Amino acid sequence: MTSSNSATALAHPNIAFIKYWGNRDESLHIPSSSSISMNLADIFTQTQVILDLDLVCDELTLNGAPASQSSQQRVQNFLDQFRKLSGKKEYCRIFSTNNFPTSAGIASSASGFAALTLAAAKVYQLDINPLELSRIARLGSGSASRSIPGGFVQWVAGYDHQSSFAESFAPPDHWNLVDCIAVIGDDEKKVSSLEGHRLANSSPLQSARLESANSRIETCHTAILKKDFATLSDVVELDTNLMVAIMITSRPALFYWQPASLAVVFQVLLWRQNGLPVFYTLDAGASVHVICPQPYSREISSTLRTIPGVIQVIHSGVGGPAHIIEENI
Ligand code: DP6
Repeated sequence: MTSSNSATALAHPNIAFIKYWGNRDESLHIPSSSSISMNLADIFTQTQVILDLDLVCDELTLNGAPASQSSQQRVQNFLDQFRKLSGKKEYCRIFSTNNFPTSAGIASSASGFAALTLAAAKVYQLDINPLELSRIARLGSGSASRSIPGGFVQWVAGYDHQSSFAESFAPPDHWNLVDCIAVIGDDEKKVSSLEGHRLANSSPLQSARLESANSRIETCHTAILKKDFATLSDVVELDTNLMVAIMITSRPALFYWQPASLAVVFQVLLWRQNGLPVFYTLDAGASVHVICPQPYSREISSTLRTIPGVIQVIHSGVGGPAHIIEENI
């Protein structure tokens, strides 16, 4: 008999305010420092997992097309832990779609592995609490741990599997911030974040960045709780610049920025000089995340669209936790 257990989960990507860059333990994704992020409500990954007794391996379909061999393998290794935990041997069909363009430079691994974690836990009938779900998602992709809880999230670095997890410290409606993502295409093939994390320790600046990381976590955490936008801007831009400094002083050096990225950063600095509450941050790509309180987002987005090299602007408020949207168990 063919089992037809299936579940569909939805998870949001997140934008880091205090960055994860460098691992203490690469295989378990135990980061070198804690990080803080905000989930993005308007963009998401939706993942359906179907258990199938007839399969001899997991089969992953991404945005309607069969995934690459390396993605299939990464997902199969990830799902092996659910089989181990549940004692069930069945493989799965996985259908994953993003509602944002892959070319947008928004990492889909965070929302992808968070949604997969929830749906897989459901079909393998594992009763796992949210902290443990974030630990498991972390094994798929570090930043996926932060897409399990909702709103404003801290990933406590820890030192082993048990002590490294993410939890929410403020709900989505705590603060109506908006991320206006200025999408900038990168011409060159990007170095993966996996490789970037590996290179972080080759920068002579990484130890200084890590020594001061906890104080930035404290500052960011308090600024979010107090809704202190000026302090938040200051600490997020400092932390972003420190991560970029590590990237460009790694060996080999990593340059993710494009000229348009810098044009957006200068525009943000100009806005602030003129009294607008806005700050920038970037991840391992050329696109720039421009964060502001909701009332300013329309004006900011329409100017961002006029900057040469900005392909599109994606808007998002603060998102909730990953959740199951359909199940048939
Ligand atoms: C620059 O979570 O993509 O976005 O654990 O290797 O999957 P892996 O890395 P990933 O790294 C994210 C790096 C970052 C900063 C951040 O999100 O904190």
